[in-house]
Amino acid sequence: MRKPLIAGNWKMNMLRDSSLALVHGLLDSLGSNTTVDVAVCPPSVYLHDVGAAIRGSQIGLGAQNMHHQAEGAFTGEVSVQMLSDLGCRYVILGHSERRELFGETDASVNQKLMAALAGGLTPIVCVGETLEQRESGATEQVIAGQIRGSLADLTAHQSEKLVIAYEPVWAIGTGKTASPAQAEEVHAQIRGLLGELFGADQAQAVRIQYGGSVKPDNAAELLSQPNIDGALVGGASLKADSFAAIVAAAG
Ligand code: PGA
Repeated sequence: MRKPLIAGNWKMNMLRDSSLALVHGLLDSLGSNTTVDVAVCPPSVYLHDVGAAIRGSQIGLGAQNMHHQAEGAFTGEVSVQMLSDLGCRYVILGHSERRELFGETDASVNQKLMAALAGGLTPIVCVGETLEQRESGATEQVIAGQIRGSLADLTAHQSEKLVIAYEPVWAIGTGKTASPAQAEEVHAQIRGLLGELFGADQAQAVRIQYGGSVKPDNAAELLSQPNIDGALVGGASLKADSFAAIVAAAG
């Protein structure tokens, strides 16, 4: 009932030519799988070129970050209006690298979330615990805090477009994946929290992606879990064949 969303987070990788080669490779290898939503999130400087290459295809365009204000004196920032002007459909918000390296907090993610929704984008809100937090038994509490803080004041109606990505920080770029059971446990917890916030029916409609070293050989098992509705893929999204294999595993 929930259509899986497989999104590639390219992070600060690729140049113009390699970006275009990657999306052309994807367009060739994806075929016409309409049971899965697919998105690529290139660096913002390549959104225009990548967007032009995928226009009219099944691949949606996403950004990796945005500012919450519409315009103004915010040197180096990009607004939701600019992203939608370029044809973006999605925006990743509060990725753990943004939280850890660029000082983003649940409160700033919440401001961006409200602006993204007002601007018509589908937000992918990232949450996840560090290894230290997991080992000290704090995972549930950390996830609850991030969900409640990042989604503060969101209405059930606004949550219709929401996508959550559960990305354990210790699994990102490390080759260590959460086991399907570990991931499913947190996804089910998030679904329960969404139920408290928006009602059980609405919670059933929200897609919750898993992220953290998703590869072609572990994707199918992760994606077969009842509360895992897609993947946010970093490293393996930089090669057309591995990203297409993850999409195929979701279909
Ligand atoms: P990874 O990154 O797949 O390289 O672990 C996932 C992410 O950070 O979204």
